[in-house]
Amino acid sequence: MSPIRLERRRVLIGVGATLMAPSVVSNAVAGDLVVTPGQTEGPYYPASYPADMDADLVRVKGRAAQAVGQVTHISGRVLDKRGEIVRGAMVEIWQCDAQGIYNHPQDPGLPRRDAAFQGYGRVEVDASGRYAFRTIRPVAYAGRTPHIHFKVHAPGVGRLTTQMYVAGEPQNARDGLLRSIRDARARESVIVRLERADAVEAGALAGSFDIVLAV
Ligand SMILES: [Fe+2]
Repeated sequence: MSPIRLERRRVLIGVGATLMAPSVVSNAVAGDLVVTPGQTEGPYYPASYPADMDADLVRVKGRAAQAVGQVTHISGRVLDKRGEIVRGAMVEIWQCDAQGIYNHPQDPGLPRRDAAFQGYGRVEVDASGRYAFRTIRPVAYAGRTPHIHFKVHAPGVGRLTTQMYVAGEPQNARDGLLRSIRDARARESVIVRLERADAVEAGALAGSFDIVLAV
């Protein structure tokens, strides 16, 4: 393929991938990818797993109601530093409901929580290294800017606990945990732009969060 055609192909791949996946091509030019920084697990990792812990946190099996909140599709790949997909990785997420309440005995709001929100989910990456969750747009709670907790286990490869943030949130600048990531590129790597994704689901948002393990 001629250099020009190759370049055009790269651009087209880049355009098509903008919403769902930051381009590996551009990163490959710059060298190793930015490793996703680790973040504390926090106190609200499930004390016990819910009966339903699939990748759709907006619906709980057996309940007619859908979770309160704006439906948000979060997807991405689990990669190593060279941009290669990490096969067999398991991705877990957990977050508070639309009122800022976690499904956890340590959360004082527990009796008021939205029982239609699953709060936790896990999924194994597919053959292309991709995971996808259907959840709600994360909300702020006392002392924290909106975030989703992530944990990745890649058997024999590595593991990572981190948090994903939302671009444009005014509280990001004051969030102690987000600010604790001193390296600007690493900090940016966990801040995700959520965009309208009516083509995916009416009224929903979507964002892409690739997770790069330090391997
Ligand atoms: Fe949290």
